[in-house]
Amino acid sequence: MESVQAIKQRFGIIGNDPKLNRAIEKAIQVAPTDISVLVTGESGVGKESIPKIIHQLSHRKHGKYIAVNCGAIPEGTIDSELFGHEKGAFTGATQTRSGYFEVADGGTIFLDEVGELPLTTQVRLLRVLENGEFIKVGSSKVQKTNVRIVAATNVNMFEAIKKEKFREDLYYRLSTVEINIPPLRERKEDIHLLFRKFASDFALKYKMPTVKLTDDAIDLLQKYRWNGNIRQLRNVAEQASVLEHNRTLNAQALQHYLPSGGSNLPAVISTTKSESDFSSEREILYKVLFDMKSDLNDLKKLTMELMKNGNVKDIQKDHEGLISKIYGNAGADESDISDIEDLEVLSIPEKTHEPIDIPEPPIDKYHFAEEIDEEETLSLQDKELELIKKSLERHQGKRKLAAAELGISERTLYRKIKQYDL
Ligand SMILES: Nc1ncnc2c1ncn2[C@@H]1O[C@H](COP(=O)(O)OP(=O)(O)OP(=O)(O)O)[C@@H](O)[C@H]1O
Ligand SMILES: [Mg+2]
Repeated sequence: MESVQAIKQRFGIIGNDPKLNRAIEKAIQVAPTDISVLVTGESGVGKESIPKIIHQLSHRKHGKYIAVNCGAIPEGTIDSELFGHEKGAFTGATQTRSGYFEVADGGTIFLDEVGELPLTTQVRLLRVLENGEFIKVGSSKVQKTNVRIVAATNVNMFEAIKKEKFREDLYYRLSTVEINIPPLRERKEDIHLLFRKFASDFALKYKMPTVKLTDDAIDLLQKYRWNGNIRQLRNVAEQASVLEHNRTLNAQALQHYLPSGGSNLPAVISTTKSESDFSSEREILYKVLFDMKSDLNDLKKLTMELMKNGNVKDIQKDHEGLISKIYGNAGADESDISDIEDLEVLSIPEKTHEPIDIPEPPIDKYHFAEEIDEEETLSLQDKELELIKKSLERHQGKRKLAAAELGISERTLYRKIKQYDL
């Protein structure tokens, strides 16, 4: 059996924390079996190495290893992605397609962000876990597969179960063995080690001397809360490596790279701003722009539904939330509703006979393409990135709060974090 040390070297894992070593040891022990493993830990702690270790040390290592980010796949396509579909199963299904569970037969599937799976998909997954059976979307034929499942989550699964967002039976089935990766703030000894490694990597990448830390800067680094864990530490190391003229940073210089909310120390900088207090007019303008874009997308969705169904009453009922989001709370007001009805009278015929045949826009089932307008300029994307970064900083990495501030769903924010590699 390979030693923990050898595995760390092979998979580029830095750190000597006993809890980290225990997690790797558990992965080594469980690898040769087919037991399902659930990797838990906060965002950015390094969960993604564990399924790779498990696959590589298992008898399946010559089989396929497929990592699926469940949070990044739109709900409407996830079943088809995972289990495949039959030709004609839905508009756009022009060919029969194999899903990941079929393709990975004999290998390992890593279900990242498993807590994001829709409930209907959870039922299908439970069946695969229980007897290796699945059915393609639009088919009635039961197929067999032999796949080892490793899942990961950064959400509290018990909370999700309590809120009925995750099936309890599936949780127990997935977490036969649980491997927890500790947060960085509980691995104080590893923090400077990781910083040195990242600083030396970035020095090589940007062809600059390596940044170093004074003792008080190391102390600050170790007392910091690191809500974004190793991912955040790496970002800090990268920013300092690129931006600092003086290649030795003291605590004061380092402080500039650490959002004040994440420190265990008393805040150095006054933080009297309210949560959504945008610091500049420019930011407010961008916020307005993105709000408009989001409203426009919502309107497109409503219009498409109106054109397809034509039944305003049903649409009003089904999209109450969306309508009140676009038209404000006054959406419930009689006068505003009559405005919407007027729209129907003017342009949409009642659905009395055949529905109007509107060709569906082609859907690319294989790439999880976001709905981004093509004419959107790169600089707008830069601003979006900046806005997201600032909002995440303001909320110490808490996606829920940032998403609410940005007026987008958590799922969209998550996709953007991945898109921009934040
Ligand atoms: N021990 C480590 N040594 C070196 N780099 C690490 C270590 N742990 C994590 N990293 C790096 O930190 C980044 C975040 O790790 P990873 O993507 O595995 O996080 P995660 O736990 O899956 O987070 P999330 O829940 O947000 O997906 C990656 O770039 C990874 O290479
Ligand atoms: Mg991950």
